Amino acid sequence: MKFLTPFKTAPLMAAVIIAKAHYPALPTDLTTPFQQRLAIYGPNSVSIGWNTYTHLDESCVRFGTSSDNLDHVSCAVGESTTYPSSRTYENVVILKNLTAGVTYYYKIDSTNSTVDHFLSPRTPGDKTPFSFNAVIDLGVYGEDGFTIKGDKTKKDTIPTINPALNHTTIGRLANTVDDYEFIIHPGDFAYADDWFLSLDNIFDGENAYQAILENFYTQLAPIAGRKPYMASPGNHEAACQEIPHTTGLCPDGQKNFTDFMHRFGQTMPTSFPSVSTNNSAKILANQARQLAQPPFWYSFEYGMAHVVMINTETDFDAAPSGQGGSAGLDGGPFGTQNQQIDFLKADLASVDRAVTPWVIVAGHRPWYTAGTACGPCQEAFEDILYTYGVDLGVFGHVHNSQRFLPVYDGTVDPAGLQDPKAPMYIVAGAAGNIEGLVSVGTKPEGLAFSNGDDYAYATVKIVDENNMEIEFVQSTTGEILDKSALFKSHAERFIRQ
Ligand SMILES: *[C@@H]1O[C@H](CO)[C@@H](O)[C@H](O)[C@H]1NC(C)=O
Ligand SMILES: *[C@@H]1O[C@H](CO)[C@@H](O)[C@H](O)[C@H]1NC(C)=O
Ligand SMILES: *[C@@H]1O[C@H](CO)[C@@H](O)[C@H](O)[C@H]1NC(C)=O
Ligand SMILES: *[C@@H]1O[C@H](CO)[C@@H](O)[C@H](O)[C@H]1NC(C)=O
Ligand SMILES: *[C@@H]1O[C@H](CO)[C@@H](O)[C@H](O)[C@H]1NC(C)=O
Repeated sequence: MKFLTPFKTAPLMAAVIIAKAHYPALPTDLTTPFQQRLAIYGPNSVSIGWNTYTHLDESCVRFGTSSDNLDHVSCAVGESTTYPSSRTYENVVILKNLTAGVTYYYKIDSTNSTVDHFLSPRTPGDKTPFSFNAVIDLGVYGEDGFTIKGDKTKKDTIPTINPALNHTTIGRLANTVDDYEFIIHPGDFAYADDWFLSLDNIFDGENAYQAILENFYTQLAPIAGRKPYMASPGNHEAACQEIPHTTGLCPDGQKNFTDFMHRFGQTMPTSFPSVSTNNSAKILANQARQLAQPPFWYSFEYGMAHVVMINTETDFDAAPSGQGGSAGLDGGPFGTQNQQIDFLKADLASVDRAVTPWVIVAGHRPWYTAGTACGPCQEAFEDILYTYGVDLGVFGHVHNSQRFLPVYDGTVDPAGLQDPKAPMYIVAGAAGNIEGLVSVGTKPEGLAFSNGDDYAYATVKIVDENNMEIEFVQSTTGEILDKSALFKSHAERFIRQ
């Protein structure tokens, strides 16, 4: 009834409130690649994903083993895709038939693109030692993200990270780029759904959400465009805002894991065919391949490791970010009933330890943690991990660093780190984001190390068939905050306990 007042005050409000999303500047050439991301796609293949500010009818990548002789070309099967509310288009090309463990140079076809390089994945069963990093709960830096004092000289040379922006974790990953071969990131990227924490964004949430995603994946490109960057979902991928029970207000394109699905759905693998001499292992691996649902759940192999990425958000009983779930995020399901659980069982049962002695499962929400544990996750997954003798569980969600002794059903394995039957668990959720770090509360049984003060990530070193080392690295200094060593005899080829 009283519509006159707003009309009168509207020009004044417009002058006072400068509401604007912080989008990056558009390139002159809209086909310029941004947000590059590599993934281990198969035993001899790598996927390359990137975004452009225009639709591409055809996207191609030139590559070769010398930077000045990119003598191979691979083009996409389909055209680029987008979704409502996005300014960008996703493009994906798969590079096949790569020789393992070799440096390849690549250039995405565009007039203004540059040559980058990557190490092709090691063959399953290759016994060369290697390291990978677990980076979880990593947000955008700059106006809409986390900022922290940092040593500007520690920013990197790959390609360039704006020194005015102090992203300590990305800076450290860049600085140490020759020390690890890939990254796993099980959930919580960018924190676009926290757009409302920045006052500028308050009247333009739809654009702010997209601007944060664009900025974050551009910031990550110096790492993800050089190292395979393996993703699975967290609660922050679900919808436009985390405030429970408001997801119904999210615009089209900002619900139900839409960006995550578009960005990584075509780049993550399903699972690898088994190279075991055991026929039933091959059959189980094929079943797992049918049941995999990338980027939500899938597996891959790399040298001595079999790595499974699981979805702790949807697709199991009482899944927290599922429809009717406790987080109120109303996502999924992304498979048929039990598909994820059936995948996990078939996939783990197929692992031949003579080929890949180390089995690692990574997901977002932990059930062993100082802080809120995910009860339904434990109910759904813990027994399966124990039964098939998983060596290490990697989780995040709680914004700090934690290491647990091998533990099953709340009881620490009496063997400790010397050939336990139970999986060892870590929480590596301190990569840094707008929500900040969380101090470590009451310490549960089995918690061997914890740190809630430093931005950090974990490095997993696969030393040989029997020895693994885990380090928590402080992002600002590179200092090792904690170091542990796990011995496993891996005496049985197929573990079922
Ligand atoms: C090409 O890249 C350079 C460096 O990033 C940039 O300054 C220039 O505007 C780009 N040209 C076009 C046509 O986009
Ligand atoms: C794969 O690479 C090998 C060695 O470079 C080559 O001989 C073979 O023809 C390639 N196969 C395909 C399908 O490209
Ligand atoms: C980066 O750090 C410097 C000094 O350490 C500070 O002056 C600057 O404001 C920081 N930048 C951001 C974006 O936080
Ligand atoms: C073959 O693999 C199956 C399932 O993975 C396992 O149960 C069985 O013991 C294996 N057979 C041999 C001879 O290792
Ligand atoms: C989310 O997306 C999946 C896959 O497209 C679909 O099956 C499911 O019904 C969607 N969930 C909601 C709540 O829209």
